[in-house]
Formats: sequence, C-alpha cells, structure tokens
Amino acid sequence: MTETLIGIDIGGTGIKGGIVDPDQGILLAGPVQVPTPQPATPTAVAEAVAQVVDSFTHLPGAPDRHAPIGMAFPGIIRHGVVRSAANVDDGWLETDIITFLGDRLGRRVEVINDADAAGLAESRYGAGAGITGTILVITLGTGIGSAFIFDGQLVPNTELGHLEVDGCDAETIASAVARERHGLPWVEYSGVLQRYFSHVEFLFSPELFIVGGGISQRADEFLPQLSLRTPVVPARLLNDAGIIGAALHGHRTHLSAPTWTEVR
Ligand code: BGC
Repeated sequence: MTETLIGIDIGGTGIKGGIVDPDQGILLAGPVQVPTPQPATPTAVAEAVAQVVDSFTHLPGAPDRHAPIGMAFPGIIRHGVVRSAANVDDGWLETDIITFLGDRLGRRVEVINDADAAGLAESRYGAGAGITGTILVITLGTGIGSAFIFDGQLVPNTELGHLEVDGCDAETIASAVARERHGLPWVEYSGVLQRYFSHVEFLFSPELFIVGGGISQRADEFLPQLSLRTPVVPARLLNDAGIIGAALHGHRTHLSAPTWTEVR
C-alpha cells in the first residue's frame, strides 16, 4: 500500500493540513485549517501546526509516526534554514526550521517554500502535468509566491513576488490581500495583474502560467481580462496545491539518498 504523508501549508493568514496520497496527488483527509497566529512567531506557529497535525494522528489510515511530515513555509528555505520572512514574524529569520519544528512535533519534518510546494504539485498532478519547458506557478495570497519549473524540475526559491513593478515591491500591490486592503474592484485588480504578468512574461517567456492561492477559486473574475502571449490557467488543485506539494517534497526527500540535514 502507498505510504501516506501529512502535508502542512503554513501561510500568512491560515495554516492548512491534510493526509496526502503522494502517488496520486490527492488529499485522503482534510483540509483542516486554523488561523495563522498574529504575530506569527516561531513558537506560536509551531503550536498551531501541532494542533493541525494532532487532528490527523488518530484517524484511520493516518501515516506512521516515522513518516516525515512535509511542510510548506512562506519564505526562502535554504538547506532547512529560513532566509526570508516577508509575511510572518522576523523571529523566523535564520531559524533551522527542520530542527525547530521537528523537535516540537517529535517527528521528522521536511520543509520547502510554499509556492515551490504548489509548483511541485501542479506540475506533477495539476494544470502543468505533461508540459515541457518553463512553467511559472504564481500564487496570489497574503504575498505573491512563485515556482519556476523547467522540464518538470523545480528551480527553488525564485521569489518573483518581490520583483519591482512601477517602483513597488509587486506583492504589496498585486497579491490577493493587497487587492482587499486597497479595496480594488476586479476590473482594476485585473489591470494591476496585467502589469505584473506582462513583466514576468517579458523576463522568462514561459510556456504556461498557472495561478494559485485561494483567489484561484475566483479566477473567472480576473483571468479572462488578462492579455498575454502565454496561456494562463488557474491551479487545478486550487488551494490544496501547497498541502499536496509539501507532502510530495517530504516523500521525495524521504525516499532519496541522505539529505544535507542528515549528513551535516
Ligand atoms: C515570500 C515567498 C512566499 C510568498 C507566498 C512572499 O512574501 O517572500 O517566499 O512564497 O510570499 O507566501
């Protein structure tokens, strides 16, 4: 039988989790969501993550305690260390998140950037499956995340949400939360996205844009307004892509040769 894994997607607004079948890229239980504590300090977030993990451990078919938990985090993750924290507390900076969350949960943990997790899931099981060349997955949420996939391989930590567009850090004007904060009607928001996506298209000439994040459920409100040479489609796994991708990352790392964290 396939080994299942718990996948957790830590976001600036919510922390979501589920039990994932990594061979089919589907949720077997969940999603369960709790609000991200504010301020989102390491200790407060670890408590909330533990709460989500606990909600699955007694379910029939829950993963073995020795199975790693796959986590997606909204910042740069280099060799298990947090290198940026735009939408969570600065206390995360330079934290060895694998050790920190692993100690708190008493379980092995593998961590990947949240947009990279969504990108892994979408390119393998979602809107990007079978597509060669460059796919860019752009997540519109509290911030803007990006995953750069070339011929099915992830190039991690691209951070295209922080490109400068019209003198602004793009995510401060074009994320889903920025739309709400500025009270932008869809037609105006579409104009902001047009600027952003045209710029990214010019820089990378991708084969496909996939738009993820909670707002992808309302893609009809803004995607048809965009005029780009590149096809642009909503994430097929919708808001579960981060959870599924986090579990895929945990699974892949578990199956592979010793990781950097194991040999260091
Ligand atoms: C962070 C990225 C993250 C994105 C979406 C940005 O502010 O810098 O690492 O992927 O938000 O959460």
